[in-house]
Amino acid sequence: KSLLKLNTFGVEASAKYYAGVKSENALGLLAETIEFSMEPLLILGGGSNILFTKDFPGLVLHMQIPGIKVREEGNEVYVTAGGGVVWNDLVQYCVDRDYAGIENLSLIPGTVGAAPVQNIGAYGVELMDVFLSCRAFDIQEKNMIIFDHAACQFSYRDSFFKNEGRGNYIITEVTLRLSKIPKLNLSYGAIESELERRGISQPSLRDVADVVSSIRVNKLPDPTSIGNSGSFFKNPIISADEFKRIESIFPDIVYYPVQSGQIKLAAGWLIEKCGWKGKKIGNTGTWKNQALVLVNHGNASGSEVYKLSEKIIDSVYAKFGVHLEREVNML
Ligand code: EPU
Repeated sequence: KSLLKLNTFGVEASAKYYAGVKSENALGLLAETIEFSMEPLLILGGGSNILFTKDFPGLVLHMQIPGIKVREEGNEVYVTAGGGVVWNDLVQYCVDRDYAGIENLSLIPGTVGAAPVQNIGAYGVELMDVFLSCRAFDIQEKNMIIFDHAACQFSYRDSFFKNEGRGNYIITEVTLRLSKIPKLNLSYGAIESELERRGISQPSLRDVADVVSSIRVNKLPDPTSIGNSGSFFKNPIISADEFKRIESIFPDIVYYPVQSGQIKLAAGWLIEKCGWKGKKIGNTGTWKNQALVLVNHGNASGSEVYKLSEKIIDSVYAKFGVHLEREVNML
């Protein structure tokens, strides 16, 4: 099975076996098959955070569990969505009904089931801010279990599912706790200035969702025309001392203080300062409006993109002494 249409980088790769999964029951049945127990497994949602550098020698499970359910309790709204629901469809569904909490996460690519894995985030909001629980299939035990917020061990672009839990759970459903009373998060400068530009002083949820969407559309390449996986690297988090050292050499460095006195650096800035922004190298390159995004200009192979990412890591390390970590999963 070709995976070309199943990854937003648009690179060619194939899977030995493939199964679309449309329900928890179907997953349970699939788990009894020889292929499920004998072959390496790859759990695929929207394919928006993965780079295939070779063919996959096992079984790809393409998660397609649908459905959105809502339970209101006073001013709180519990929204439960199937793992295969497109994340942005869920955001628009909630914004349309005035359920507040995920409007800043408009237009993030990928599926609901993938969202907890890397604790998706944008414009001052992370999934962990609204996450209540998720259901997941335990591959070893072959049963369903429920993860609450604490069990997911969320942090910046990270969770239990990327660490101890790696490879053993298939998220089938996610429940968010949203609110009927909007608490807008406009802390991100780009949102404020775009609202101002539009002359909106009392923004609605819809206004925020629209503004975030337009910021993203202007800054990030549309994967349907130019293959990419959003931010390719994480923004590195360094100690205050390390930061002082770098800032004394590069006083215009872009950064954000985070918890426990550490400093998060804008990786896009580091990469741009190394001269990579908008550069084309063969079929790959970095995006002209956002150096943190690696792109496929057409016919790039996964290993070509991977090699470019190595070069970027090396040059950022040579210039700043900071190690960039990939955010995108490599295969
Ligand atoms: N910058 C540059 N040059 C660049 C890119 C950025 O100098 O080429 C500097 C600018 O000063 C800019 C700052 O970096 O103001 C921050 O850039 P941006 O607002 O684009 O955000 P980011 O830190 O690069 C993160 C997330 C994005 C998310 C945005 C908005 C990560 C790895 N990325 O990017 O998430 O949309 O913030 O909140 O945390 C993704 O994960 O795929 C993703 C797109």
